[in-house]
Amino acid sequence: MNIPAPVRHPETPAAATVRLADKGLYLPLPDQGEAYFNYHWLRDNCPSSFDAGTRERSFDIFHLDAAPRAAQAVIDADTLVIDWQGEDHQSRFPLTLLASYTTGRPRKDPADKRRRAWYSNHYADVARFSQPDLMAQDQKVAAWIEALLIEGVAIITDMPDTDAGLTELAERIGTVRPTFFGSYFDVKTHINPTNTAFTAAALELHTDTPAEEHAPGIQFLHCRANSVEGGRNLFGDGVAVANDFRARDPEGFRLLSETEIPFYCEHDTYDMRSRQRVIELDEHGEVSGLTISQHMLDMIDLPQEFLDDYYPAFCRFGRMLQEEKYVMRFTLHAGECIVFDNHRIVHGRAAYTASSGDRYLRGCYTDRAEMRSTYRALTTEGRFKS
Ligand SMILES: [Fe+2]
Repeated sequence: MNIPAPVRHPETPAAATVRLADKGLYLPLPDQGEAYFNYHWLRDNCPSSFDAGTRERSFDIFHLDAAPRAAQAVIDADTLVIDWQGEDHQSRFPLTLLASYTTGRPRKDPADKRRRAWYSNHYADVARFSQPDLMAQDQKVAAWIEALLIEGVAIITDMPDTDAGLTELAERIGTVRPTFFGSYFDVKTHINPTNTAFTAAALELHTDTPAEEHAPGIQFLHCRANSVEGGRNLFGDGVAVANDFRARDPEGFRLLSETEIPFYCEHDTYDMRSRQRVIELDEHGEVSGLTISQHMLDMIDLPQEFLDDYYPAFCRFGRMLQEEKYVMRFTLHAGECIVFDNHRIVHGRAAYTASSGDRYLRGCYTDRAEMRSTYRALTTEGRFKS
């Protein structure tokens, strides 16, 4: 007798079950397995907590009568639905949103780009953009910021020969950020100079205004005239030098990246002071840049015995910064504006003959955090756009 095999019905997959615990719940997530979420976090981040207009959190967890706790929680298609104990409130979370918060690591930042070190031969490859293009095209602004995030430097061409041309350019990245000497500065020879920059002398490689608690992030130098003899521009990538220093001189690197030293800027009406590390590391432990300025380095007030080790390391690094391998030399022309990360790129100039012609650079700064904000807004959708 031929008995037909029983027909097998495909098994209905077991409904994914949410397990409630004392302080949070366990949620099965597609491709990730079970993940834990704290009740405070869930209640605080209920999508209804955020105002559609302001895009800010309008819910105030401090006003809950008791610690939040789920009365029940179920998965409905691709959504977690929670009914809260003691509250007439239901939360609905897209599972994709929850899936991006399971690692406990900072959320992905599109502006967190890997830096690319550059050397003395970089001039031909420096990212270049024309000012009128940047004024007209958001995509160009995004590419410009990307260059600043990755290489820390860009040259803007076709600058209008006006003060407004610089302001308009800077405002494509952020707000002009004043320092204690004002919103803009003019680099030309002054009769009574209060700063080495305002003389015709050579200017060693440095970052600007290290004596401020938060030195400005992005520097703009708009060349309005340059017909002098000498005065070549010198630029170097602090990341390139510090990365090589890390390999060449690990103990020196440790001293320079861990020790705060004093910087100052002092004259008749001001006395700015700050303490900074020469080599700065980012949240990944990677070199993010430098703070260095021989003309604004204060008399180091650390224990003299400690300086037996620190000073030689500081000098080894300072000399390395000036090695030919790292120094990009060129002449900035009238109508160009060099834009660079003031916490990464060191800049200086050779001496020039003041009587040989005109040399006029007009500068300002914007903020790095605001630049990253502009970049994210230009390149991503954001979480709250409808
Ligand atoms: Fe400077």
